Amino acid sequence: MPLKQMVYCLSNKYKTLFFLIFVVTISACKKEVKEEKKEELIVYQPSEMANLMNEFYEYNASLKSAILSNEDLEQMPERFLKIHSAEMTDSSGRNSIFNGFAPAYINSQMKVLDTLSRLDLRTRYNNNINMCLACHKTECVGPIPRIKKLLIK
Ligand code: HEC
Repeated sequence: MPLKQMVYCLSNKYKTLFFLIFVVTISACKKEVKEEKKEELIVYQPSEMANLMNEFYEYNASLKSAILSNEDLEQMPERFLKIHSAEMTDSSGRNSIFNGFAPAYINSQMKVLDTLSRLDLRTRYNNNINMCLACHKTECVGPIPRIKKLLIK
C-alpha cells in the first residue's frame, strides 16, 4: 500500500474510533443528566399532606386579610378534612400526637366562622393559628416562623 493511501486508511479508522468514543461519551453524559433529573423529582415531590398544609396556609392568609379589611369570610373548604387520611412525607408521622391535634385543629378552624361564639373574631382567628403552632411544635418545626406571620397582632 502506498504511504499516502495508508495514512488515509489509518485516519479513516481513527475517525471511526473517535466518532465512536464521541458517541459513547455523549450518551453517557445524557444518561447522567437524566438520572440527576429523576433524583430531583423524587426529592422535591411534595406529599399530599404538604400540599394540603399549603392550602391551610393560603386559606388562613386570605381569612387574615379579609378580617383586616372587614370583608366577608370564606367557608372552610371541605377537603381540609383530608387531614385525617392524606399521605405524609414521613409515613410514620401519623402518630398519636398528630391524630390528637388533627380533629382539634379542624374544630378550631371551623370555629373561626362561628358567629354565635362569645369570643371575638380576631381571638377565634388567632386561637386557630395557635392550634397550627401547637401541632407544629412537636410534629414539624420547620414552617413555624412562616405560620407565626399569620397571627394578627
Ligand atoms: C395535626 C398537626 C398539624 C396541624 C394542626 C397543622 N400542621 Fe402543618 N404540618 C404538619 C406536618 C406533620 C407537616 C409535614 C407534612 C408532610 O411533609 O407530609 C406539616 C407541614 C406544614 C407546612 C409545610 C408544607 C410543605 O410545603 O412542606 C406548612 C406551611 C404548614 N404545615 C402550615 C400549617 C398551617 C398554616 C396550619 C394551620 C392552619 C397547620 N400547618 C396545621 C402538622 C400539622
